[in-house]
Amino acid sequence: MATLLIVHHTPSPSLQAMFEAVVSGATDPEIEGVDVVRRPALSATASDVLAADGIVLGTPANLGYMSGALKHFFDTVYYPCLDATRSLPFGYYVHGNEGVEGAQKAITTVTTGLGWQQATAPVTVVGEPGKDDISACWELGATSAANLME
Ligand SMILES: Cc1cc2nc3c(=O)[nH]c(=O)nc-3n(C[C@H](O)[C@H](O)[C@H](O)COP(=O)(O)O)c2cc1C
Repeated sequence: MATLLIVHHTPSPSLQAMFEAVVSGATDPEIEGVDVVRRPALSATASDVLAADGIVLGTPANLGYMSGALKHFFDTVYYPCLDATRSLPFGYYVHGNEGVEGAQKAITTVTTGLGWQQATAPVTVVGEPGKDDISACWELGATSAANLME
């Protein structure tokens, strides 16, 4: 059984809606043989990452960067995972109220350092998520999980 890990920081209703849509897509009944593991960024561990075949990251944009919670996740797992997780496929979603470019750049920098491979287009939402935004999150989850089907 393949494992898709979702590591998320979800401090608001907008991010909860995006997270739930990603989970809904990833756990669609048509996708078989993929275990979807959810971990809040402040409790995710290197063991979670080492057990994953793919990963979806979710964060707000805070002060022009990823959230401190997701940064803490990377600070925690970076060296324990550096050797063993090269080429790990990943995707991500970011929510902000002004601009999310800084958060995207930060995610790109750290995942490039880890050698992870971006496998899906990022979902970025500014302001209250609309129907299309929620659909894009669903697609992100579904594609990320479907890519791991054997
Ligand atoms: C301290 C702080 C810094 C923030 N910095 C940014 C930022 O740099 N860019 C941005 O788009 N939104 C920023 N935001 C907005 C958050 O991304 C937003 O509050 C979060 O995604 C939750 O969405 P909501 O407040 O609409 O529920 C910031 C929020 C806080 C509390």
